[in-house]
Amino acid sequence: MNHFTGVEDVRQALSATGYIADQQLATTVFLQTRLEKPLLIEGPAGVGKTELAKALAEATGRKLLRLQCYEGQDESRALYEWDYGKQLLYTQILREKTGQLIADVDDIDAAVERIGNYDSVFYSERFLSHRPLLEAVRSEEPVVLLIDEIDRADEALEAVLLEMLGEYQISVPEIGTFHAKHVPLVILTSNNTRDLAAALKRRCLHLFADYPSAERELAIIRAKHTGLEEDLAAQLVEIVRGLRMLDLRKAPSISETIDWARTLAVLEVRALSQQVLTDTMSVVVKYDKDLRAALDALPRLLAGQTPQVVPVVDEPDGYQVRKSKDEPGRFDDGYYGANAATLTRADVSSSQGARSFARRRSG
Ligand SMILES: Nc1ncnc2c1ncn2[C@@H]1O[C@H](COP(=O)(O)OP(=O)(O)OP(=O)(O)O)[C@@H](O)[C@H]1O
Ligand SMILES: [Mg+2]
Repeated sequence: MNHFTGVEDVRQALSATGYIADQQLATTVFLQTRLEKPLLIEGPAGVGKTELAKALAEATGRKLLRLQCYEGQDESRALYEWDYGKQLLYTQILREKTGQLIADVDDIDAAVERIGNYDSVFYSERFLSHRPLLEAVRSEEPVVLLIDEIDRADEALEAVLLEMLGEYQISVPEIGTFHAKHVPLVILTSNNTRDLAAALKRRCLHLFADYPSAERELAIIRAKHTGLEEDLAAQLVEIVRGLRMLDLRKAPSISETIDWARTLAVLEVRALSQQVLTDTMSVVVKYDKDLRAALDALPRLLAGQTPQVVPVVDEPDGYQVRKSKDEPGRFDDGYYGANAATLTRADVSSSQGARSFARRRSG
C-alpha cells in the first residue's frame, strides 16, 4: 500500500482534497498505509473524523464504503445476509425439478434427506447479499472502509469486527473464508460515548482528534471558500476558541466555525461587531444555557481577552435538593411508612436513573 512517499506527501494529498491535516494526523495516516493497520480515530463531534475517510478515499483514488453504526445493529447489516427472497424465487421456479428429484421416494424423511444434499446450492455466493464489511473484502478494486461511530453499536458488533480488522478476512460458515483481494484502508470513528473493547483497540492505530490549532482552523476555513474575508475569519477563529474555553455543554466544532463564517459572509459583514455576533451566535451555540454563557463572554472575547471560565449552571441535582430538605426530625416516624429506615438511594431502579440521565448523556 505505497500510496504516499512520506508524511508530507500525505499532508499535501489530503490538502488537495480540501482536508487540512496536522503533523500527527498525517503521520498516523502514513503509518496506516505502511503498516496496513486500521485507524481508530476518536474525538468530539465535528472535528473531521468522518471527513478524513472521505478525503483519504479521494486522495488515494479508492472507492469509499461506509458502515454507519447504530444501537441494536446486528451483524447481518454489517457483514452479509442470505437473500431469502431470491432463494424462494429459485425454489418456486425449480419446483418441477425438485419434484422429479424426490419422485421415487415415498416417506418424508427420505425426501428431506435427498433435498438436503442440495443445501450448498442454496447457500452459495449466488444467494449472498454483501453488506459493507464483506463488500470491502470481496471488492475487485481497492477501497477505503469507513466504520463510522462504532461506539453507537453494541459490543457484540465489535466482536464481529475483530476477524475483519485483524486479518482482513470474513468467514461465512456455509461457504468458507473470504480473504481481501486488496487490503482495505479502514477508518473507524468514535465519539467516545463508551469505552471500546481492548481487543478492538489493539488491532488499530489510534488517534485522538481534538479541536485544531488557530492556524489550522483558519486554513480549514480558507479551504472551504466561505467567502468571509481573511482577517475577519482569523478574528472569528479566536472568538470560537474563546467559546471553547467556556464550560459549555456542547463546545462549537470545526463544522460550526465554518457555518458561522458562511453565515457572516452571506450577511456581507465587514466587521465583527457585538451586534452581528449576538444575532448569529445560535449558529455555533445550540443550547439555551450555553447561549447565555456565550453572550455574557462575548464582550471580553471581542476585546481579545480570555474569557472567565464560569461553569454553566446545570439543573440542580434533584436528589441533593430533596436530601438537604429531608433533615432528621422534620417529620415523625410514621410519615415515611414502615420501610422508611431501609429506603436508600439504591432502591431507585436503574431504569429510572437511565431515564433521568438520558438527556444529559445524549448531550
Ligand atoms: N481537517 C479538516 N479539514 C477540512 N475540513 C474539515 C476538517 N475537519 C473538519 N472539517 C469540516 O468539518 C465538517 C465536520 O466534520 P466531520 O463530519 O468529519 O466531523 P466528525 O468528527 O465526523 O463529527 P461527528 O462525530 O459529529 O460525526 C466536515 O464536513 C468538514 O467540512
Ligand atoms: Mg462523523
